[in-house]
Amino acid sequence: MKIAFSKPETPTTGSYVVTVLEDRKLAPAAAALDKKTGGVITRAMGATRFKGKKDELLDILAPKGVPFARIVLAGLGKLDKLDANGAEALGGKLVEHLNRAGETQATVSAEQIPGSPLGASEFAAHAAMGAKLRAYRFDKYKTREKEDAKPTLKAINFLVTDVAAARKVHGPLDHVADAIHFTRDLVSEPPNVLYPESLAERCKRLASFGVKVEIFDEKQLEKLGAGALLGVGQGSARPSRMVIMRYEGAPKAKDKRPVAFVGKGVTFDTGGISIKPSAGMEDMKWDMAGSAAVIGTIEALAARHAKVNAIGAVGLVENMPGGNAQRPSDIVKSMSGKTIEVLNTDAEGRLVLADVLWYVQDRFKPKAMVDLATLTGAVIIALGHEYAGIMANDDALADKLIAAGKKTGEPLWRLPLGEAYDRDIDSPAADVKNIAAGRGAGSTIGGQFLARFVGETAWAHLDIAGTAWSSKDKPTCPKGATAFGVRLLDRFVTDNYEEK
Ligand code: BES
Ligand code: MN
Ligand code: ZN
Repeated sequence: MKIAFSKPETPTTGSYVVTVLEDRKLAPAAAALDKKTGGVITRAMGATRFKGKKDELLDILAPKGVPFARIVLAGLGKLDKLDANGAEALGGKLVEHLNRAGETQATVSAEQIPGSPLGASEFAAHAAMGAKLRAYRFDKYKTREKEDAKPTLKAINFLVTDVAAARKVHGPLDHVADAIHFTRDLVSEPPNVLYPESLAERCKRLASFGVKVEIFDEKQLEKLGAGALLGVGQGSARPSRMVIMRYEGAPKAKDKRPVAFVGKGVTFDTGGISIKPSAGMEDMKWDMAGSAAVIGTIEALAARHAKVNAIGAVGLVENMPGGNAQRPSDIVKSMSGKTIEVLNTDAEGRLVLADVLWYVQDRFKPKAMVDLATLTGAVIIALGHEYAGIMANDDALADKLIAAGKKTGEPLWRLPLGEAYDRDIDSPAADVKNIAAGRGAGSTIGGQFLARFVGETAWAHLDIAGTAWSSKDKPTCPKGATAFGVRLLDRFVTDNYEEK
């Protein structure tokens, strides 16, 4: 789907999308069109329940006296509530709506509405981004899809007075959208195609954006003492990997310490010897969504030339049962030197992250470290699929992330950490055990375990088990991989770490 911006001009073909505010107040382009067509818009609204509320769409087919085929009235709701998220949602809904209608071409009026808190260029750029995000498809393995099941919309053009300004706002957003598509591709790939080595290979794409990509194989990981990560991968025929991505966008900054993002990359989680039930096990192909979000975030930052130093680090393993798999009650030595009693081989994400978190804080001394992981089913019980869980050892860092999440529509809800929970993972046989005795506070226990491997670093853990994959279409995301975290972290960097 092609996205373009051009000066206001009545389209000659396809659908013409004009906007309407709550209580059927026509925006200027809609008013002009209504006049030109002898009141066709006013009459159509009068014949329906269309009120101009947010998200309402109404088609007027083949209006007389104009060259294009369809008017689409798009409700914006209350003008004073109009914001970037709303523009993105509208762009996304339009794509869905126009594809359903079989449309190939669309022109969207994005002219300035008097009194709007959102500038026309911002409106156009964000609507364009929303359109692209919703147009995402993962169809590379469909070899005989029927023509009429494929999307029809080929081009969407936004009419805006200051074309250059709209393109300028759109530039960085479009890089973020590309990174989101990349992340969704990684999460969607089946585990026979995407496994630790092949996922590490895909990270090399970031080199073209100036990111330094280091891949650690099992020999190097052994040398580093990554016994926790390697223990998870040892039952798999596919060797484990760790990938470090370094983006230096602020080489002259006074404080050169990077901000670091760490991702869980379990390319398939059977549970290992503590094997999962077969129903729903296919979901565990996306147990690498944390790593994909980290890779996408680094790509977004590098592609848009963010003025920040950032590290992306991912631990890549496949958790399989087998003759060489680790057993419940095995004791492994982590890179930190701490020993871990593995009482449940299905609590594997924390074992992988223990080594990667330790490595990152030890080598890079980051200003802040944020990990993303599909860590616990418990976070779905607590928060469902709307909020991701956040746990942190630093209130200011948690607040920054929560604020970025609010702004980008990827909300976070804080869960506690604390001394008493920490006692629950003391092991009688080793320094720490990877599960607690009871079933309570499962997400917190996971976070509490990670906290033992972050040293003194300001750190936050995002449990994205409930938000990495969606079983329903969303305005800016078709069902499937969401790339949750990429927008949030990109915004978190913009608002807190980018040199102005
Ligand atoms: N990858 C799972 C968590 C998960 C569950 C992600 C559902 C997405 C959807 C994780 O490795 C896991 O198995 N966690 C266990 C931990 C338990 C053994 C303490 C869980 O949540 O049951
Ligand atoms: Mn597991
Ligand atoms: Zn897992």
